[in-house]
Amino acid sequence: MHLLSSCLFFLLLSALPGRVSGLDTITGMYGETLEIPCNIGAIKEEDVLITKWKYDKGEGLAGDLLVKQKSQNVVDSATDEYKGRVSMGANSNLLLSEARLSDQRTFTCMVVASQDIREYPVNVAIYKMPAALEISEKAEELEIGKLTKLGKCVAADANPAANITWLKNNKPLVADEKGISIQASVMVDPVTGLSTTTSSLEYAAEKEDTDAQFTCSTQHTEGAALVSSPVTFTITYSPENIVLQVISQGPLVEGDNVTMKCIADGNPPPTSFNFHLMETMVRVDDSDTYTITNVSRDATGEYKCSLIDNPSLEASVDVKVNYLDINLSPSGSIVKSAGSALNLSLQIDASGKSKVSWTKDNVKLDKEPIFRKLTYSDSGRYECQVTMEQLSRKASFELLVEGAPVIRQLSKQRGEDGQHKVLICEAEGFPKPAVSWSINGTSPVESPFINGKITHKITVVPSANLTVSCTVTNKFGMDTRAINVSSLFVEVRMDKQDKYSDQTKLVVGIVVGLLIATMIVGLAYWVYMKKSKQGSWKTGEKENGSSEEEKKLEEKVEENSQKAEV
Ligand SMILES: *[C@@H]1O[C@H](CO)[C@@H](O)[C@H](O)[C@H]1NC(C)=O
Ligand SMILES: *[C@@H]1O[C@H](CO)[C@@H](O)[C@H](O)[C@H]1NC(C)=O
Ligand SMILES: *[C@@H]1O[C@H](CO)[C@@H](O)[C@H](O)[C@H]1NC(C)=O
Ligand SMILES: *[C@@H]1O[C@H](CO)[C@@H](O)[C@H](O)[C@H]1NC(C)=O
Ligand SMILES: *[C@@H]1O[C@H](CO)[C@@H](O)[C@H](O)[C@H]1NC(C)=O
Ligand SMILES: *[C@@H]1O[C@H](CO)[C@@H](O)[C@H](O)[C@H]1NC(C)=O
Ligand SMILES: *[C@@H]1O[C@H](CO)[C@@H](O)[C@H](O)[C@H]1NC(C)=O
Repeated sequence: MHLLSSCLFFLLLSALPGRVSGLDTITGMYGETLEIPCNIGAIKEEDVLITKWKYDKGEGLAGDLLVKQKSQNVVDSATDEYKGRVSMGANSNLLLSEARLSDQRTFTCMVVASQDIREYPVNVAIYKMPAALEISEKAEELEIGKLTKLGKCVAADANPAANITWLKNNKPLVADEKGISIQASVMVDPVTGLSTTTSSLEYAAEKEDTDAQFTCSTQHTEGAALVSSPVTFTITYSPENIVLQVISQGPLVEGDNVTMKCIADGNPPPTSFNFHLMETMVRVDDSDTYTITNVSRDATGEYKCSLIDNPSLEASVDVKVNYLDINLSPSGSIVKSAGSALNLSLQIDASGKSKVSWTKDNVKLDKEPIFRKLTYSDSGRYECQVTMEQLSRKASFELLVEGAPVIRQLSKQRGEDGQHKVLICEAEGFPKPAVSWSINGTSPVESPFINGKITHKITVVPSANLTVSCTVTNKFGMDTRAINVSSLFVEVRMDKQDKYSDQTKLVVGIVVGLLIATMIVGLAYWVYMKKSKQGSWKTGEKENGSSEEEKKLEEKVEENSQKAEV
């Protein structure tokens, strides 16, 4: 009976492997204790007589691990790699400590019940996350457009082998055989069987990759994604654009310092340049500027700068230095004789259109003075100012007109009280002429000597007909002129008699009284008119006023006398 049952037992055993298809697979983590379940509740606990754990050794062989008979202790019959690593847990589960890759095989729980024998095979898979990812062999810098090995990412000791994905700003990079190339390899540790995946990324950077974050990551079958710490790169590129600037406020003028600045892109930007100044070339290191001090008009022209290691990349700029030269002839102090001509010449040499303005004795003139025939009033300080842009130049000369004096006018005025006469002698000349009279007057008044003009007055009380002369002299010569002065009453009567002698003689006796009365009226009128015009003659401008007044008075007297005749 025992034998039979044993026979049956083995029969069953050998027949059982056919049931291994469609096995459950349970996953354990490398190095940890793995619990492999048995019989998950198909047979009641109290019905179980024997529970046995074994494993598939390969080649159809089985290795024993644990056996437990009802009401007895577990018998550990594990050998080789399982010695000391197995134990039985609750529900007859197999506890396998320090899981390793070689544990990836089939473990079978065989249960013998009073009327049944069953086997529960389970496949075991052992997973291991790779160690932390790190990017190594990092490139120093990335040059735009040039395929460069960016770095190496290693996912060490994993099972199954990790797949490494490269990311730029958290977006996966896909090899495209142009700008992105990824080489991966897997090494299996002969002892542990764990795989180490190595992935190298070759990458051709673009301009916007400055500050881009590169990472590598793995998404393992079990567990969370692993991501390396991000790395960034300096993105370098050769200069492509170059510009030359002139740094100055406003237009350049002679004497300025001209600073030229050569600006090129590129990363790192170039630090040394060649400046081409007309015919010569100057190399400037560690600076992008070149300054020419105190430029002259000859500095006008085209300037260039270029890169030292790429001379074909060059920029140019036109520099214009403005200038303004003037030459005024005459200059300094000049003395000319009255009546002569003075030719002015103002030569302007300027880089642009200029404006000229003139002043005489600090008073603005409308236009450039022209001296065809110099007069004394032309004397003075002449200054011209020429401006162009912000440049300004001044030149001046001092003109003195000299010559022998000339009497312009010799006139007489009746005094306000009718008791005296004022004689006025106006003369021009330079230096200041001395004025003298042929008689001794009183109250001599001499005007200031302005513009070569002088006016001299004396007061006389003519007691008889007089011929008075005025004489003016300076070192260049003299002039003299005479005027007839008569007594007031005599003058009037004399005039009347002169003109109307025949007619008046007849009525003289009759009208003499009337005449005197009329004269008094006329005199009053004259005094009135004189008062209203008082002072005007003092300006010396209306010198003729007096004689006109006299004439008027005379006409009035005449009119009255004619009326009296009627
Ligand atoms: C790795 O990638 C390959 C192909 O993309 C895939 O077949 C494999 O399952 C991946 N392995 C892991 C662990 O993700
Ligand atoms: C030009 O540069 C020199 C020295 O570099 C300096 O002395 C001078 O003041 C500068 N001139 C102007 C107009 O800036
Ligand atoms: C500037 O150059 C001019 C001639 O070109 C010279 O006369 C002048 O003295 C120079 N000025 C300075 C400050 O060097
Ligand atoms: C002044 O100019 C006139 C005409 O332009 C010329 O005939 C004369 O010789 C010049 N005089 C002087 C002093 O240059
Ligand atoms: C003018 O007065 C001076 C003395 O004051 C006298 O000598 C001279 O003769 C007088 N001349 C005339 C023209 O009256
Ligand atoms: C003044 O001159 C006039 C002529 O011009 C003459 O008739 C008169 O008699 C003269 N008087 C005296 C005081 O000489
Ligand atoms: C002054 O009167 C005289 C005659 O008395 C005459 O010959 C002379 O021309 C007169 N002179 C002037 C300036 O009127």
